[in-house]
Order: sequence, then C-alpha cells, then structure tokens
Amino acid sequence: MNVLLIGSGGREHALAWKIAASPVLGTLYCAPGNPGIAEEATCIDMDITDHKAIVAFCAEAEISLVVVGPEAPLVEGLVDDLQAAGIPAFGPTAAAAQLEGSKGFTKDLCARFNIPTGAYMRFNNAPKAKAYAREMGAPIVIKADGLAAGKGVTVARTLNEAFAAIEDCFEGAFGEAGAEVVVEEFLEGEEASFFCLCDGTNALPLTTAQDHKCVGDGDTGANTGGMGAYSPAPVMTDELVQRTMDEIINPTLKGMAEMGAPFTGVLYAGLMITRKGPELIEYNVRFGDPECQVMMMRLKDDILMLMKAATDGLLWTMSARWRDEAALCVVMAAKGYPGSYRKGTVIDNLEAANALHDVEIFHAGTARNGDKIVANGGRVLGVTALGTTVGQAHQQAYMAVDLIDWDDGFCRRDIGWRAIKREEQ
Ligand code: AMP
Ligand code: GLY
Repeated sequence: MNVLLIGSGGREHALAWKIAASPVLGTLYCAPGNPGIAEEATCIDMDITDHKAIVAFCAEAEISLVVVGPEAPLVEGLVDDLQAAGIPAFGPTAAAAQLEGSKGFTKDLCARFNIPTGAYMRFNNAPKAKAYAREMGAPIVIKADGLAAGKGVTVARTLNEAFAAIEDCFEGAFGEAGAEVVVEEFLEGEEASFFCLCDGTNALPLTTAQDHKCVGDGDTGANTGGMGAYSPAPVMTDELVQRTMDEIINPTLKGMAEMGAPFTGVLYAGLMITRKGPELIEYNVRFGDPECQVMMMRLKDDILMLMKAATDGLLWTMSARWRDEAALCVVMAAKGYPGSYRKGTVIDNLEAANALHDVEIFHAGTARNGDKIVANGGRVLGVTALGTTVGQAHQQAYMAVDLIDWDDGFCRRDIGWRAIKREEQ
C-alpha cells in the first residue's frame, strides 16, 4: 500500500523510519518532510493547509492511507476532507480533535462522563475569571482554550501571577486561542504521558513515556515543545495503566461516540498521578514529539498495520509488543531556543553518530544546503538510543550527541534523570 505522511518534525521522521520497515508498504510519500525523512520517503513540496491539493495528490499517487502527524491539520479537518473524498486517513476528525483543540471541551467531557480531573470553570472575560481564581486560591492553573503551540498554560504560584496570565490571554497573547480561558485546580503529583491507539470504539494501550519540557538541566528555564524523552516511564505501573484505561480512556471513547464524534487515531493523555490516582491534565490527539521517537525505537510490531487497523475499526484484532530495552531521546536545539535563534548553521559528523550501535538520529528542523545539513528550526535533531536500562540508553545517546559537530547547537545533559535515579536506588 502507498502511504502519505503529513508533517516535517522529529515525530514524523520517527514515523517514516518505522513505516518504511513495514512489509506491506508500497511507496512512502511525505509532505513536506525534511532531509532526514527524505532518506525514508519521497518528499513532496506541498502546502499542507491546502486540503484540495492533498486530495488530488492522493488520487494521483494511489494512496491507501494518509497518516497525519501534527495536531493543526487534524483540528483544521484534514481527515474529514480526506474521508469525504473516499481516502482512508489515520487520525481524528475535526470534531474528535477538539479533545486537543479546546481545553474547555475536554473539561466538559470529563465533567459529563465522570473522568477524574481538576475542578475548573470556563470564562470569556477577565473579571469573572479572576473572581474564580481568587475563590480557588493559589497555586492555580490558567489555560488558553485553543491551540497555542504548548505555550498557553500558566501554572501560577501566586494570585498576582494568575491575574497577569488571565489578562495576557484576554489581551491576545495567544490570539484566538485565548479568547476563552479555563481556570483549573492545581494538581499535585508526578506527571506521566500515556498513549493509546483508538478505532472509534476500542483503545489499544501503547506504552508510556516521559517528556522533559523545560529548556534547562534540572527542569529549569522556559517551557519548550520537549527537550528529550524516555520510554518506558517507571511511574506508570501496570495497576496505574489499568486504572487509566478504566477511569479515563474508555469513558472518553464511550463519551465521544455517544456525542457523535467517535475518536480514531492516537490519544495521548497527559496525566498527573495524584494521591487519589491518575487524573487527566490534558489530551493530545497525536503522538508526542519527542515521545514518538522513543516509542518507535521500542515498538516490535508493524506500525502501519496498527494504524490501518485503527482506521478500519479493527483494533481488537491487534496487539502491540515492545522491546524490553529502554529508549531515550536527546533533543539538540539551536542556541536561543525557545526564544529567537539562527538558521543555516552547518551540522557535521552526523553519519558517524548515526553509525553507533542502537542509535538513530531523527531530523526535525533541518534543511539541506548542497551536500551539507544545516539547522532550519528551533528543535533540530532527536538523538535516540536503546539501552538495557534508561541509564545505558542515556550513555549511548550522549555518546552520539558528543560526536555531532554543531557549534550553534545545545542540549540538556540530564535527560532521563528521574528514571536513572530510580534505577540507582
Ligand atoms: P501543557 O502545555 O498543556 O502540556 O501544560 C503544560 C504543563 O502545565 C503540564 O505538563 C503540567 O506540568 C502543567 N499543568 C497543566 N495543568 C495542570 C494542573 N491542573 N495542575 C498542575 N499542573 C498542570
Ligand atoms: N512533547 C510534548 C508534545 O508533543 O505535546
């Protein structure tokens, strides 16, 4: 079968790498892709907001499955437009993608179907939002309702911080995404990310991963899209996985189907493991980046068959098996990220790093300039390794990082520290 993958990040490179290994694959195309993806797929220079062009390409290239990587095209209804044209697509419809596209929508779903999450209210003006924050007291969490590239959430330690965040949202700091604000109870505990494949009715649990959102070592500094990840995340015991399925994932699928928006694709639950058990912080409707990189390194089964089964409503026939080894991904970013950074700086010695045992280097913001790979974004490379423990995967990944010659790049040096501390106990 011919497949079209949509996206150009490290997540999509990891997906392309894994899809390319499928025995049932004909030709893999990717729009728009990047130089790393181009090693696995034929990259198509296409505007991915132009749904008509994508539909026309699918007909011409006899595409049997479109895999949508990022959230924005899902929220904008790419899957709906493909389905209307009779083209099977992996990912939720716009109605189902509201689980990520509107935090208020998800909170209302939780309230209606008894899914554990923090207390909350939705607001469309600052005075009422502030009054509720005052009533709840600090710490308190302020969220822009819509998609804000991971930047729309403020965990306010004081009421003044909360008021400032509320004002920022309504003054347009996040554009349309902040026209509505959710004020939410602060949940205390350890965070974990949990992933499922869904086919509208059934959920197949995948595995767990842990992201590192802060830019600096020791989880300090500004929030980013993610500076590294590892899988599995030891905080999610089998018992917690079962409770998450019973109390959060399955009620969500049932609720979405009941509301006429059955969910198909990857459901990524951001969880807080509180004293009461798992509570939902938020949903994403796609794989995490860089969580996908570590998951694809550990997946033993054919991702393409799994995605096809999810799209066809046949997930109950499938299982997903994982390598016992841990995987760990270190993100190399351009100096200055998540603030402003330079583009076009040369990255050397990638081949030597990629040749290390059990190491894969996934490209995110890279471009080709003649025979050189150059930086072309904030997060640029995802250096990913397997190891018998998280500690060994960490060592192997940093050995590869240290071989890469890129003066303008930086990374955190402590990816996996929580799990490594547990392993050393
Ligand atoms: P997000 O960008 O939506 O993933 O949220 C960013 C981060 O804010 C999460 O990873 C949590 O660390 C934190 N956060 C969001 N909601 C809450 C909450 N209700 N309680 C505590 N922390 C939260
Ligand atoms: N790494 C966080 C995310 O993909 O949302």
